[in-house]
Amino acid sequence: MKKIDLRILGIESSCDETAAAVVENGRVIESSVIASQVDLHAQFGGVYPELASREHVKAVYATVNEALQQAHMKLGDLDGIAVTRGPGLAGSLVVGVNLAKGLALSAELPIVGVNHLEGHLYSAWLYQSGSKPTPEPKFPLVALLVSGGHTELVLMRDHLQYQMLGGTSDDAAGEAFDKVARLLELAYPGGPSIQKAAMQGNPRAFNFPKARLSEPWNFSFSGLKTAVLRTVEEFKSAHKTVPTADIAASFQAAVVGALFEKTIAAAREFEVREIIVAGGVSANKALREAFRSQTEFRVHIPHISLCTDNAAMIAAAGYRHFVAGETSSLDFDVQANLSLAASA
Ligand SMILES: Nc1ncnc2c1ncn2[C@@H]1O[C@H](COP(=O)(O)OP(=O)(O)OP(=O)(O)O)[C@@H](O)[C@H]1O
Ligand SMILES: [Mg+2]
Repeated sequence: MKKIDLRILGIESSCDETAAAVVENGRVIESSVIASQVDLHAQFGGVYPELASREHVKAVYATVNEALQQAHMKLGDLDGIAVTRGPGLAGSLVVGVNLAKGLALSAELPIVGVNHLEGHLYSAWLYQSGSKPTPEPKFPLVALLVSGGHTELVLMRDHLQYQMLGGTSDDAAGEAFDKVARLLELAYPGGPSIQKAAMQGNPRAFNFPKARLSEPWNFSFSGLKTAVLRTVEEFKSAHKTVPTADIAASFQAAVVGALFEKTIAAAREFEVREIIVAGGVSANKALREAFRSQTEFRVHIPHISLCTDNAAMIAAAGYRHFVAGETSSLDFDVQANLSLAASA
């Protein structure tokens, strides 16, 4: 029997990236376009919501057109539209969702609202058209989702099934990178800046604490952040130069250590053979190396360009919903606080 190829247009506008992509069969990226607002928000040291929505309004139509052109497709060549419906900034989400609804209506295409966090997980299935397919993740697996707003350990026994094992009790991993970068007066966004500074530093220079929590699969980064703050203050009050590179390297090692150890422990406990690491923080070199250097589990980490927000991951997750026969009606709303558990 001939396999039917499904081409999905993905649209993402949950935070400070306006993105559109065309993905075939949930895996093959035909195009992926990202209009980033990072430079605009850098002056505020974080995302300024009102400005973000207005930038999406300006960029979204051209971004979708560019994605279609790069894929050499017209709306009529598509089989469906997937758009991020949450979590994220409500005013930003509305921009992508409204354009997606308009396109679906005009081209008579099915539409599905996708959870942004599912998108991050499904980025592990993606590879570029024309390049060698990456190994496909196999269930059951444990996924570590580490992004700007989330740190989740998830057990997936099948597509679209998310058993939440644990999360963060305070800051998300990416948020910790961003806050510590600010303490060290490094540029926004903090993750890449800390990684760069850490390359010149000694990860054993400071013995920062790892969180000890009673719940086995939860994370905590606020104690670590406070320890960094105290260290910086001690140097400053002694009128000594703050050893930025050593602090960055030691902080990064503490975060990577906690993420790696808990994920491996969960994979052993739930007797899986495969692990996914996804979300913006999975772009971190030290984290990637920690997972790549172990041989007990087969680890899937998206290409660096797919770790932070993009629309190919939304199309990939949307594909799974369409295959499962799920679509959204044209009156669905955005959900700023949507959780992954709610999408299981
Ligand atoms: N190389 C890196 N090392 C560590 N952290 C990184 C790196 N690159 C990006 N990050 C972090 O990833 C985060 C951005 O990831 P992402 O775009 O997935 O977050 P978000 O979409 O804002 O949040 P969420 O997905 O939870 O809604 C930022 O906190 C950033 O500092
Ligand atoms: Mg994200």
